[in-house]
Amino acid sequence: MKYSINPLNLSPWKRAAVLVTANGMAVPCIRCPRKDKHLKAVQFSRYGGPEVLEIVEIEAPHPGPGEVRIAVRAAGVNPSDWKRREGQYRAFEEVHFPAALGVEASGIVDEVGPDVSNTYVGDAVFGYGNGTMAEHAVLTHWVHKPDDLPFEIAGALPVISETAWRSLDELCVKAGETLLVSGAAGGIGSAILQLARIRGITVIGTASPQKHDYLRELGAIPTAYGPGLAERVRQLAPDSIDAAIDVAGSGIIPELIAITGDPARVLSVADFSAEEYGAKFSHGPPKEPERILADVARLYSKGLFRLRIEQAFPLEKTAEAQIASAAGRVTGKLVISP
Ligand SMILES: NC(=O)c1ccc[n+]([C@@H]2O[C@H](COP(=O)([O-])OP(=O)(O)OC[C@H]3O[C@@H](n4cnc5c(N)ncnc54)[C@H](OP(=O)(O)O)[C@@H]3O)[C@@H](O)[C@H]2O)c1
Repeated sequence: MKYSINPLNLSPWKRAAVLVTANGMAVPCIRCPRKDKHLKAVQFSRYGGPEVLEIVEIEAPHPGPGEVRIAVRAAGVNPSDWKRREGQYRAFEEVHFPAALGVEASGIVDEVGPDVSNTYVGDAVFGYGNGTMAEHAVLTHWVHKPDDLPFEIAGALPVISETAWRSLDELCVKAGETLLVSGAAGGIGSAILQLARIRGITVIGTASPQKHDYLRELGAIPTAYGPGLAERVRQLAPDSIDAAIDVAGSGIIPELIAITGDPARVLSVADFSAEEYGAKFSHGPPKEPERILADVARLYSKGLFRLRIEQAFPLEKTAEAQIASAAGRVTGKLVISP
């Protein structure tokens, strides 16, 4: 399947502008003279290293049917951003240059597209979008942000929440089972540990020793990765490891199969070779993202879900953020705050 990225150079804009009236009705503003403002955004015009990223001024995008535009407060940094920039996805994803960056964000709605009934200008929201590493961006799937959920965290939640939720569902891990998570201290790992704990699953997570307290805070039993993993895990869970999720993509699918004793109980989100061994490979696009985002926001408000934001970067330092992400040592998540 080919996924298309919205190009940033969509001018001239063909979508109808929308006015939101005082009673909250969104009406097409067909005869309004379009006052296209300009905004700063990150884009790249060829595949390559962080040096291909540019901060450019573009015309503000307008939301289409079922979409909203936000003034971005925080956009989550994901490994997919720099993998896309490097051209790692070119076999299955069409990129139109110049290409926008960023697939998730939080912010304040400043324009509402047609056929949107539950969201108004001024609402605080977070969700999935296109080109979210920009001052303004269009969201395609979103939910309202609770007041007690900081914008920085909300903007970093969508990808990790949906991926973690989907992985646990696809692997059918049940209450009372023990799950091993390889790569537990990053964004997706942080989400899996907590969602699994809430489901009544015991979790053993791998991370370097200085991050073991972090894993404990999230409700997991930590252990180091590397040689001797199977023996360490056996001592921590003498009764057996029922299932394993590979988040790190560090080439340990055969080891995880040996530890669980069943390839059908091993799933990877990062190692494309998983299916060659009979294990599962889980990938998007996200299904039912709004339901999952609303549930995770509720869990946050109840104090049952946390996310460490290791660092927030200004838009101008997006390249630095991507270099840090690509180094593979992030605890929790990084965000861009325009
Ligand atoms: N298939 C999908 O649907 C999907 C969706 C989203 C993302 N992904 C992929 O999932 C992967 C993880 O994403 P992420 O956002 O969680 O990444 P991330 O936040 O950048 O992960 C960083 C963490 O990985 C840990 N790590 C690095 N090498 C490790 C190893 N050999 N063993 C165990 N832990 C290790 C690091 O811990 P230490 O510092 O302790 O080493 C660090 O805390 C990426 O490859 C991403 O592209 C897939």
